[in-house]
Amino acid sequence: MLDWDLFLTPYHQAIDELKIKLRGYREQYEMTSQHSPIEFVTGRVKPVPSILDKSRRKDIPFNQLHTMQDIAGLRVMCQFVDDIRTVIELLRSREDLQIVEERDYIADKKDSGYRSYHLVVSYPVQTIVGEQNILVEIQIRTLAMNFWATIEHSLNYKYEGQIPIEIKNRLQRAAEAAFRLDEEMSKIREEIQEAQKHFYLKKTDDKSRKK
Ligand code: GTP
Ligand code: MG
Repeated sequence: MLDWDLFLTPYHQAIDELKIKLRGYREQYEMTSQHSPIEFVTGRVKPVPSILDKSRRKDIPFNQLHTMQDIAGLRVMCQFVDDIRTVIELLRSREDLQIVEERDYIADKKDSGYRSYHLVVSYPVQTIVGEQNILVEIQIRTLAMNFWATIEHSLNYKYEGQIPIEIKNRLQRAAEAAFRLDEEMSKIREEIQEAQKHFYLKKTDDKSRKK
């Protein structure tokens, strides 16, 4: 018999620690009046019935459960698509975790319309019997990507994976609309940044002329 509480304890620890660490970035950006590439962070440990379900589906024996990549899951939500790159770079530069896999469903969206950047990292948790490396799946996505994925996920749940074709088509169109929303927002952001740069240059120019 597997003691689930005992088995899942380091997973909870990993999620709690990483949530604090990633939220720490946001605080630092705010403190220095800079745009934060991280809007918010959520985390969860996969419920036991879902772990059992997946282990059956993927033929993972109980003594190999540590190879399941998403028992610990984190989501990082960003305002802009470009922020995702920044978050990936922040994670790459960390010395307290190791990236073991990357899946770019933004460059290469799924047939469903799903977009997100996935990283699987190995994160060391200190336990009373020594260090234990825990796999954590980190999904990085914009607010628009998250909106779409959340709705699609609940529809999949409702229809037990058999979403009717008309709704599927509508979801595809919604995914395209979410993609265009991300594009428009990026353009607006670029224009604002451009305008701020001109404003700054003009101000420094005015100042030097007054001297
Ligand atoms: P599982 O899908 O977890 O069995 O593993 P995998 O190896 O196929 O990994 P993948 O990167 O495809 O998906 C992992 C996670 O990404 C899922 O558990 C979901 O949270 C999310 N995801 C992947 N595809 C979709 C999708 O089409 N719709 C939604 N809403 N989420 C998705
Ligand atoms: Mg999958």
